[in-house]
Amino acid sequence: MTGFHRLQEAVTASKRVLVRVDFNVPMQDGVVSDDTRLRRAKPTIDLLREAGAKVILLSHFGRPNGQVIANLSLNQIVPALENILGCTVAFANDCVGQIAEQAVRAMRDGDVLLLENTRFHQGETVNDPALASKMAALGDIFVHDAFSVAHRAQVSSFGLATHLPAFAGLAMEYELDHLTQALGTPTHPVLAVVGGAKVSTKMELLKNLVSKVDILCVGGGMANTFLFALGKPVGISLCERGFADTALEILDNAKRSGCEILLPKDVVAATAFAANAPHKVRLAEDVRDDEMIMDAGSDAVAALMHAIARAKTVIWNGPLGAFELPPFDRATIQAASYCAQQTTAGKLISVAGGGDTVAALNLAGIADQFTFVSTAGGAFLEWMEGKQLPGILCLSK
Ligand code: 3PG
Repeated sequence: MTGFHRLQEAVTASKRVLVRVDFNVPMQDGVVSDDTRLRRAKPTIDLLREAGAKVILLSHFGRPNGQVIANLSLNQIVPALENILGCTVAFANDCVGQIAEQAVRAMRDGDVLLLENTRFHQGETVNDPALASKMAALGDIFVHDAFSVAHRAQVSSFGLATHLPAFAGLAMEYELDHLTQALGTPTHPVLAVVGGAKVSTKMELLKNLVSKVDILCVGGGMANTFLFALGKPVGISLCERGFADTALEILDNAKRSGCEILLPKDVVAATAFAANAPHKVRLAEDVRDDEMIMDAGSDAVAALMHAIARAKTVIWNGPLGAFELPPFDRATIQAASYCAQQTTAGKLISVAGGGDTVAALNLAGIADQFTFVSTAGGAFLEWMEGKQLPGILCLSK
């Protein structure tokens, strides 16, 4: 039975369905700047509405650490979501308690309600059982439709499954089917490009990933941490100095498993984190104290393109620079365009994942030239590592 039929069978009119989506989307000036994650959520929401269910959407947004932070409210997603779904979306200022309960009681069959950022509650990220039972009381069924949070054992992506009948949504199934098809038995050499600003949470998984891939290209904020660990000057760049030992451990693991590591030999450095900030291309050794690394330099891009030319499979997670601030999107766009070109020429399989990566590929107009574009960043890398993801295990039970 397909996921579609399983959901159709489980969901009858008037059922309150708690749907875990991932609306952790890139924003610019309060407006959604890439709506891929919203669009991927539509098929499940449509199916549930057609069945006459009450669709209650749950998501995190950013990392507020249990604090209520106005610019991390999901309220600002509502207009973009209504536009994509073509229906009204009600919003409740909390994801549990009286406010949420009242909003659910006011729903009619086929209505859609978005609850406030689940991470405004401290209990969410630690999978607090009390929060899980309060949240579960809002629904009759739990549908997990966010592969991109399947690696998090949190209340809304895992804990709910201990209280409610739990099903995979259509977007979850779509991701798993496509990833398995493209990367189930990857053709070597496999090149992983890992960049972006979420350094701390990705460092741990690189320790294992180096044993699965042949070449690892480290870019973006992640590369700065490696450069610092190797004693290079990083000025005022984004850099997690506390992870220097982990970076050295990763380099050591890579050496032992025969994985080649690519770090930027040259970088684009600026003194301000702003679009069109004056900048200079420098060797990684020569970054000044008052500068920050904004992008990979041209030699670094050429080295990555050479690696892409040798690879049969490329997995890409995270931009190589501050891509949202032109011209610091240049390295990402240039290397990703070459990867897209090699893919369309039938020379390799390419899978890109992660909110910012997808936004960068969409910006360059090349997302559809990759073999598959996943909405997931960290979850995609952990899946690639061969890890069992809690958000999927809880469903198969
Ligand atoms: C992502 O953007 O990768 C997901 O939304 C997960 O976010 P997190 O890393 O903050 O859990």
